[in-house]
Formats: sequence, C-alpha cells, structure tokens
Amino acid sequence: MEKQYKGGIFLKDTAFFILCAIITLVTFSNLEISGQVFMLRVRLIAVTDIRGMIAIDENDRTEWGSPEDKKLFKEITTSSGVVIMGRRTFETIGKKLPGRLNVVLSRAGQFKNEKPDIVLSGEPREILKSLKERGYQDVCVIGGQEIFTQFINAEVVTDVYITIEPIILPSGINIFDKIERIYSLKLEKVQLLNDIGSIHIHYKIK
Ligand SMILES: NC(=O)c1ccc[n+]([C@@H]2O[C@H](COP(=O)([O-])OP(=O)(O)OC[C@H]3O[C@@H](n4cnc5c(N)ncnc54)[C@H](OP(=O)(O)O)[C@@H]3O)[C@@H](O)[C@H]2O)c1
Repeated sequence: MEKQYKGGIFLKDTAFFILCAIITLVTFSNLEISGQVFMLRVRLIAVTDIRGMIAIDENDRTEWGSPEDKKLFKEITTSSGVVIMGRRTFETIGKKLPGRLNVVLSRAGQFKNEKPDIVLSGEPREILKSLKERGYQDVCVIGGQEIFTQFINAEVVTDVYITIEPIILPSGINIFDKIERIYSLKLEKVQLLNDIGSIHIHYKIK
C-alpha cells in the first residue's frame, strides 16, 4: 500500500514537472517570434514631411529629404547591418544599399534591376524569425507604407526613428495606412540636423 502511495506521489510530481516544462516551452516559443521580448531589435526608420507623408507617389525617390538625413540614415542602417524593405521601395532605390544585408519582401519575386541579397515573403513575425535563425539580432525596417504598416500592426517594432523635413508635400503616401490600436512612444532623443530645420526624433515603443 505504502509503495503504491509513494508511486502515486512520484507520478504526480512527474506530471507536474512535465506540465511546467510544457508551459515554459509554449511561453518561450511564443516569445521567440516577438521582437521586443526576444532581444531582436527592430528599428523603423523614415523621413516625412510635416504631416507624415513619406512619398508623393510610389515612384517618388524622396529626393526632397535633406542630405543630413540621408547621412544619418546610412549611419543607423549600417550600424544595424540589415535593411528590410518592400519590393516597390527597392525598385525606387534602384540598387542594393552597400554595406548592409538587403532583405526585400516580395510575393511575386520579380525585379527590374539588381537582385536583393534575400527575398522573403510572409508575415512580419515569420520574416523576423527567419532572419533571427540566420543570426541577425538588429534590423531596420525602411519602408514603404505597406511594410511600415504591417510591422507596426504586428507589434514587433522596438524603435522608431523619424526625420521630419520642413516641407509640405502634395497628397500622396502617408507613413502608415490603417493602424489597429493606439501606440504610446517614449522619447529617446531629438536632434536638429541642419539650419533649415530638419528634425530627427528617436522613440522607443512602450
Ligand atoms: N520617406 C521614406 O522614409 C520612405 C521610405 C521607404 C519608401 N518610401 C516610398 O514609399 C513608396 C513605396 O511604398 P509602398 O507602400 O507603395 O510599397 P512598399 O511597401 O515599398 O512595397 C510594397 C510591395 O512589397 C511586397 N510586399 C508587401 N508586403 C509583403 C509581404 N508581407 N510579404 C511579401 N511581400 C510583400 C509586395 O511586392 P510584390 O508586388 O513584388 O509582391 C508589394 O507590392 C515609394 O515611393 C518609396 O520611395 C519612402
């Protein structure tokens, strides 16, 4: 009797241990695809006019952006090492950004000019998981609107870097399309980039 009883306790302990292990595994496998929690830095970086427009149309090469912003963009994205962009943005740039891994999202996979380093397709969390598995820890999401919107709505962005140029563009493409909830940001840094008043702001997403 006593032996059976002890066996029962042993079985109960084992079952409890297995349950805890399953809960831990499930929790951490969910965290693995969450940029904020699993130590993957996901920086969204954009230049806008004063009402948040990123382009006049999909062929706009954002030449209205200041040289100081372009320099800063290069510094931030080069320090990250990885740029993720939509196929239309890649086509407007016309070539790979040197010194960075150029990841282009495309469902069709058709490119007019140079081919990017990696072409991926899928939800932002799948894209990040795939890059994390390749060893990347820090990525910059560089647009355009479709990509910015998907990454914000997927709740994987950790940092937002915005340069506001002192300019009002004709109606065109806003930085985001439909955003599904309110996001609160924490100010990290503000920089005046030049004499004309280009302002660079770095926020963390709370
Ligand atoms: N001011 C700025 O900071 C800034 C930054 C970036 C871009 N821009 C401007 O924004 C404009 C382009 O923006 P956009 O919104 O029209 O296009 P986009 O976001 O650059 O690219 C859209 C394309 O990306 C692909 N795509 C989107 N979601 C995908 C997913 N989940 N998986 C796989 N592929 C996916 C599709 O390519 P396929 O059609 O090949 O399937 C889609 O047509 C350009 O004028 C550009 O200059 C401005």
